[in-house]
Amino acid sequence: MAQVLDGKATADRLLEEVRQGVEGRKARGLRAPCLAVVLVGEDPASQVYVRGKVRACAQTGVLSQEHLPSADIAQADLEALIDRLNADEGVDGILVQLPLPRHLDPKAALHRISPAKDVDGFHPLNQGLLFEGLPGLRPCTPSAVMRMLEIYGIELKGARAVVLGRSEIVGKPMALMLLEKHATVTIAHSRTRDLPAVCREADLLVAAIGKPGMVEGSWLKPGATVVDVGINRVEDPALAARIFAGEPKKLEQLQAKGSVLCGDVRYGEATAVAGAVTPVPGGVGPLTIAGLLLNTLQACEARRG
Ligand code: GUN
Repeated sequence: MAQVLDGKATADRLLEEVRQGVEGRKARGLRAPCLAVVLVGEDPASQVYVRGKVRACAQTGVLSQEHLPSADIAQADLEALIDRLNADEGVDGILVQLPLPRHLDPKAALHRISPAKDVDGFHPLNQGLLFEGLPGLRPCTPSAVMRMLEIYGIELKGARAVVLGRSEIVGKPMALMLLEKHATVTIAHSRTRDLPAVCREADLLVAAIGKPGMVEGSWLKPGATVVDVGINRVEDPALAARIFAGEPKKLEQLQAKGSVLCGDVRYGEATAVAGAVTPVPGGVGPLTIAGLLLNTLQACEARRG
């Protein structure tokens, strides 16, 4: 039976680090860091994520601001809001929650954020620093996953790592961070030929492709470490029956609530083959928020200098 990599416990540990960092600032007579979150429109999933971020700020003593423009805001007005936050000495980190409504250009908005306040690590300057292996603000999910792997003592040097997914939020930066720690890294994706065979090579598999239950137990190398970044909502009973065979609790949840959360990996199958695996929920989700707060503290400390 695989070891469960507890993302929630790891996140709590990282949040405690942030809390102590904030306390340390206050002890030096400095103000607490401040995160400004911009949520355009009323997408319910984004509202849940933003609420989680604001709650974690409160838990760690980080100040937060919520800016909630309506869904029909013009690009120029969104960028003017970002400009104001860039110029605001009291704001250390700026996060524009994605996805944005379709009429808005997300790249233009993200590029508008001052690199020094880019706590998502999405600005090309920060991406370039990561590419070069230099310190900067790095994307929250992969950097917190790296901390978790370190805490659990997962050996990366010389390991075969497969990153499933090539997004700029997770897949690409994750691959660079693993490479930096001397893993041999493959980025696989939906067009990769014979995905199961590629995954079976992996000592470490990071799944971030957004397809519920895509990775089956038979795709895993026995003893592998599996990090499941996917958070998918499953409503289809037939799909759920395939993904959750052997996980009766998940099927009961689906019956009771009409939907159930599921990663990109079939957790029940993975626990029988893998050496270690993150659950969904309670795996990578809480880590992302912890990564954001670590970045906010880092941005605040760096701006001071
Ligand atoms: N939406 C989903 N994930 C993210 C993230 O990491 N950052 C932002 N800003 N929006 C998201």
